[in-house]
Amino acid sequence: MKASTAKSAALSRQARRLMPGGVSSPVRSYPPYPRCIARGNGAYLWDVDGTRYVDLCLGFGPLLLGHAHPAVTRAVRAQAGKGTVYGAPCEDEPWVARRLRSLYPSLERVRFVSTGGEAITSVLRLARGFTGKPGVIKIDGGFHGSVDQLLVKAGSGAATFPSSSGVVASRDLPTYLAPFNDATAIRSLLEDHEDIGLVLLEPALGNMGLLLPEAGYLRELRRITRKAGVLLAFDEVITGFRVALGGAQERWEVVPDLTVLGKVLGGGLPLAAYGGREEIMSLVAPEGPVYQAGTFSGNPLSMAASRAVLETLSRPKLRDVERRTQALAQRLRDTFASAGVEAQVPTVGSILSIFLSPRTVRNADDARASEGKRYLELARGLLEGGVFVPQSPFESLFLSTSHDDAAVDRVVDALRLALRSGGA
Ligand SMILES: Cc1ncc(COP(=O)(O)O)c(C=O)c1O
Repeated sequence: MKASTAKSAALSRQARRLMPGGVSSPVRSYPPYPRCIARGNGAYLWDVDGTRYVDLCLGFGPLLLGHAHPAVTRAVRAQAGKGTVYGAPCEDEPWVARRLRSLYPSLERVRFVSTGGEAITSVLRLARGFTGKPGVIKIDGGFHGSVDQLLVKAGSGAATFPSSSGVVASRDLPTYLAPFNDATAIRSLLEDHEDIGLVLLEPALGNMGLLLPEAGYLRELRRITRKAGVLLAFDEVITGFRVALGGAQERWEVVPDLTVLGKVLGGGLPLAAYGGREEIMSLVAPEGPVYQAGTFSGNPLSMAASRAVLETLSRPKLRDVERRTQALAQRLRDTFASAGVEAQVPTVGSILSIFLSPRTVRNADDARASEGKRYLELARGLLEGGVFVPQSPFESLFLSTSHDDAAVDRVVDALRLALRSGGA
């Protein structure tokens, strides 16, 4: 019997009259209406009609410890009682900055901001300030937040809006596109255009489903950019803490000039950071001439949550969640194979995704060629079977340290059922 979604339907009707699509971010909207969520705990979410879901979305990535983790909840409660924004430095900022520097080789100095998009906007400005060059190379399918210069062939929710209306191509701020896993394309762009100062990418691309870097790709980008005198920035908003404690730069041993962190960093509260080599970061105001500021930057509530997350995470905990993610990916592959459905389930760290494709998916074009419409039917079946997954073929799935064997079993059972009832 299908669970009732009557309360979600009623709330969505109200919201749609008041808010575009009835949502605060486009990818939360899906037909006929999204489930409205009442609460989350550990690996689970409950909707307003009382249905429980294993959560593989985890707020689109931030909740590496799961929902309402006791350490984070305790820290946020304690800080809320002491105030939530001071307009002045707070004690946890240098603690978190020091911890980040010890984990991320590139983060000699950091600036805290509130969202990944804000961090990326700041990195673009800083790179221009440092190199004097306005152009950026981005990867087809890469998503870096609602940032004008980068909303071109973007992934995530923007993958269904290939170029946003209202974004104008600017000769003053040129954006060049390269496919993922193609270092030669980037070398050619750098040879042909002298106005490029920055190559920006998600080192494992998490916004077209999950695209993994092929052996040597990131290292080759490091070599090419260094040779061309161009900055290399890793957007580790998704990969940070998830592919290793020290992110993609630890896992694949490539040190970029600039790094952006977000999502997991704030433990479920709005927090992001950008940083890099001392020589570059010293240009940021008030030390240098590149201006960037924010009322909520480094606010004590987000910093307390971040400290709690960083104190709780450990390499053994990450190894456990990675092992469980690999096991889930293998069981999903086996389930697809038994049902005669051709599917790819790439995984790294605590991230995985599903492509209904007979071939390995190397780049955004391959991802677009996978069977998106069939995937949507499958995602719908999973949701109805009690697994909360994004209703889009271009999002990654996530596990947390709270996902146990029972949660993983439920996902596999739900997939089996969805395949049997014709989803995919
Ligand atoms: C890789 C990446 N960078 C940047 C962003 C933007 O972060 P935010 O949504 O916090 O602005 C996202 C958001 O999904 C992302 O996935």
